[in-house]
Amino acid sequence: MERTYVMVKPDGVQRGLIGEIVRRFENKGLRLAAAKLMTVTPAQAERHYQEHVGKPFYPDLMKFITSGPVFAMVWEGDSAIALARKLIGKTDVTEAAPGTIRGDFALHTNRNLVHGSDSPESAEREIGIFFAPEELQSYSKAVEAWM
Ligand code: PPS
Repeated sequence: MERTYVMVKPDGVQRGLIGEIVRRFENKGLRLAAAKLMTVTPAQAERHYQEHVGKPFYPDLMKFITSGPVFAMVWEGDSAIALARKLIGKTDVTEAAPGTIRGDFALHTNRNLVHGSDSPESAEREIGIFFAPEELQSYSKAVEAWM
């Protein structure tokens, strides 16, 4: 069982896509462990995007991610990290396949709607930036026995 951090970015919230994005994760069968609408602080943004310091898009990314509310989530399940990345689609929106969130809704790479952790280490780190341990729910669903 894995946990992954998924975040509807400010453009996704502004475009009214929270429900559409949550629906795709629920339909897949992943289990929601935590969710909240929040504004990312500059300190959280710096920690979250620490590996991108110095890249040309970094200043815009920092400004953008703190510009308005995001919908922060933790999803869990077998292979949750890879499955979430598949549902989200490639970072470059010109390569994001139709059927993925970015492939269906995103027009520009720097406004690509949603973030998903790219490894178990990133997932653990990112969940810790945005959620306190007591905010994570542990439960099972009866239907999981059939899956
Ligand atoms: S890269 O190019 O290897 O650093 O890209 P990646 O590791 O996939 O993620 C980079 C994050 O920055 C966001 N972003 C951009 N990436 C590439 N090009 C441009 N112009 C750009 N603008 C913003 C990208 O969406 C990744 O953030 P997350 O939140 O993970 O989607």
